[in-house]
Amino acid sequence: MSPNHDRVALVTGAARGIGAGIAAKLAANGHPVVLADVLPEVEATARALREAGHQARAIRLDVSDEAAVAALPRAIGDWWGRLGVVVNNAGISPKAKGGRPRKIRDMPAEEWRRVLAVNLTGAFLVSQACIPPLRARGWGRVVMITSQAARAKSMIAGAHYAASKTGLMGFARSLATELGPDGITVNSVAPGRIDTPMAQGAAAGVNDAFLANIPLGRTGSPAEVAEVVAFLASDAAAYLSGATLDVGGGSFMP
Ligand SMILES: NC(=O)c1ccc[n+]([C@@H]2O[C@H](COP(=O)([O-])OP(=O)(O)OC[C@H]3O[C@@H](n4cnc5c(N)ncnc54)[C@H](O)[C@@H]3O)[C@@H](O)[C@H]2O)c1
Repeated sequence: MSPNHDRVALVTGAARGIGAGIAAKLAANGHPVVLADVLPEVEATARALREAGHQARAIRLDVSDEAAVAALPRAIGDWWGRLGVVVNNAGISPKAKGGRPRKIRDMPAEEWRRVLAVNLTGAFLVSQACIPPLRARGWGRVVMITSQAARAKSMIAGAHYAASKTGLMGFARSLATELGPDGITVNSVAPGRIDTPMAQGAAAGVNDAFLANIPLGRTGSPAEVAEVVAFLASDAAAYLSGATLDVGGGSFMP
């Protein structure tokens, strides 16, 4: 039997989009998967995985809610001690009217705080809560879903989003440094334009202009991001830590 059967994977923001794709891929690879999301739809996403013969549970969780994250061990129950993989995928990208990025001069501080709270502090809270079970088993994989907005100037996302995702990459490097001695790797995946409800929220003209800069000439799919996350979660990626893998069709080349 694959060792993945004893490596429970927690995926945040897994009700739909990239997170749902990651949960499906990890489940197909034999991981029992906990899908966490604020949306009630997460129940149906998990049910569909169970109906396909996989092990999957849904929990309702706002990753920015410190008390709710602290209660994760209770929410996840008997699977908590078998945690092996954590994917910090939950994220928001508020846009101005018409799907355009909001100018900094017009950005309400409350919106700035909310984006940082979900995209950055949420990943900190969830990662911190998951350290004890990962350390206890001496093996672990943490993956941050950042963005090309953290790698180059963004034509699509607001400054709060770019700042949160850039911060997430810095946090990942610190966590990788701290947890390496415990056999835990921490890496980031920076997707380019991926066809999800979030991407559909951008104005059509914005998406078209972006496409012109993608050498592969198309948007990506959640499944294509999930393949890379599954690799990072595997034993094959044992010596990879603190890295950022760009999954953007070549739109950013460091
Ligand atoms: N779609 C893209 O082009 C793209 C590109 C780069 C990075 N990303 C990143 O990928 C991740 C997934 O994005 P997506 O495109 O699938 O977006 P999406 O909006 O389709 O899905 C995001 C999911 O996160 C959940 N979520 C939001 N706030 C939450 C919270 N506080 N607690 C728990 N769950 C929460 C949402 O309910 C939703 O199910 C995000 O971190 C996003 O920033 C997306």
